[in-house]
Amino acid sequence: MLRSTFFSALILPFLTNATPVELAARASCTVSTYTDVANVSACTAITIAGQTVPAGQTLALSGLKDGTTVTLSGNIVFATGTHWTGNLFSLSGGKIAFDGKGHTIDGNGAWYWDGQGTNGGVDKPKYTVYLKHSGTFKNVVVKNVPGHAFSVHNPAALTISAVTYDNSAGASLGHNTDGFDVSSSTNLTITGCTIINQDDCIAINDAKNLVFSNNSCTGGHGISIGSIKTGNVVDGVLISNNKVISNQQGLRIKTYADNTNASVSNVVYKDNTVTGATSYGVMIVQDYTNTGETGTATAGITIKNVSFQGTNTVSTVSSATMVKVLCYPGSCTGTWDWSGLKTSGGKKGTNVGGAPITGYTF
Ligand SMILES: *[C@@H]1O[C@H](CO)[C@@H](O)[C@H](O)[C@H]1NC(C)=O
Ligand SMILES: *[C@@H]1O[C@H](CO)[C@@H](O)[C@H](O)[C@H]1NC(C)=O
Ligand SMILES: *[C@@H]1O[C@H](CO)[C@@H](O)[C@H](O)[C@H]1NC(C)=O
Ligand SMILES: *[C@@H]1O[C@H](CO)[C@@H](O)[C@H](O)[C@H]1NC(C)=O
Ligand SMILES: *[C@@H]1O[C@H](CO)[C@@H](O)[C@H](O)[C@H]1NC(C)=O
Repeated sequence: MLRSTFFSALILPFLTNATPVELAARASCTVSTYTDVANVSACTAITIAGQTVPAGQTLALSGLKDGTTVTLSGNIVFATGTHWTGNLFSLSGGKIAFDGKGHTIDGNGAWYWDGQGTNGGVDKPKYTVYLKHSGTFKNVVVKNVPGHAFSVHNPAALTISAVTYDNSAGASLGHNTDGFDVSSSTNLTITGCTIINQDDCIAINDAKNLVFSNNSCTGGHGISIGSIKTGNVVDGVLISNNKVISNQQGLRIKTYADNTNASVSNVVYKDNTVTGATSYGVMIVQDYTNTGETGTATAGITIKNVSFQGTNTVSTVSSATMVKVLCYPGSCTGTWDWSGLKTSGGKKGTNVGGAPITGYTF
């Protein structure tokens, strides 16, 4: 006690006086208002203070250097008043460690929601959180997104963890409120997150080596690969130990009808639990379009190697279909060992187009 008081009394004033440059540098690494972002790109320890971002503006931190930490010290609220399609919060650069410290990013979605999502109605900010970096992103609550929640484009390993995305207020008018939209992604892990929304929990569009584990998805359209369009490649996906509760679909792969030059390969589902799926428990189709399935699978996009390992327990409501597979003959190939899939609750499904499924009886 005595020693530290003595130390503080004598030394602290000296330190304070001796380091004005350091203090100034530290102060300028705090983003107190969205215009401060211009000042912080050279900082390696950035704090984002609680604030309300004006309508029609993006809180955009870009060009951040490898090793930068970004920490929230309060809640970020996005003001309403402008219908526009920009993103709300974006983070881009090298290897970044983001820690939300449990604070909230609130997109004020209710002001935009009109039941038409990003396919129609009024303009809505497209993504509430846009990430283009590697490293880590954790411990934040994202709620009330006007359009989709996350867009993820990581050029190298990124782990997203302990994120709560709560869009439960959008249950009646929220639409297309996807959780994680993933494209141009390499080595992404999303783990220990809670997602409550009205569309795909995750939509994996273009990714190499992706792990989605230990998450819970409530109320939306399930865990989805796709919709896969021309030019997309998804290779190496492990979906493990997730809970999918009361979604339209549980586990789904959808490729876009009449598209080509794209592929889905090496997908493993392990130890997932789907309960109360209202349309399909497992669905793998090659006839998808945004306005619905055409009913006719097309050959342009091959799906190779899809397996169910461990124990995946998939239960649906009684009016739903437990498994639907619709492939163009010869376009679902490789090893489809489904011995780790147990289904119950709904109608028996079909394997149209002859995917080479073993270990599961329709
Ligand atoms: C940020 O930079 C602007 C000029 O671009 C300056 O006016 C402002 O004071 C700076 N803010 C801080 C916190 O340093
Ligand atoms: C992705 O991970 C693999 C396996 O750890 C590694 O070999 C590869 O270099 C990583 N790719 C990138 C772009 O970091
Ligand atoms: C899963 O995530 C929860 C927090 O969401 C955590 O408590 C639990 O330890 C995690 N389990 C595993 C196996 O990682
Ligand atoms: C096919 O898609 C890849 C991207 O995955 C792209 O680089 C390539 O140019 C495309 N090829 C053709 C013929 O369109
Ligand atoms: C499918 O899996 C087998 C092993 O089970 C592997 O040899 C093959 O390369 C995989 N196919 C693709 C397209 O990766």
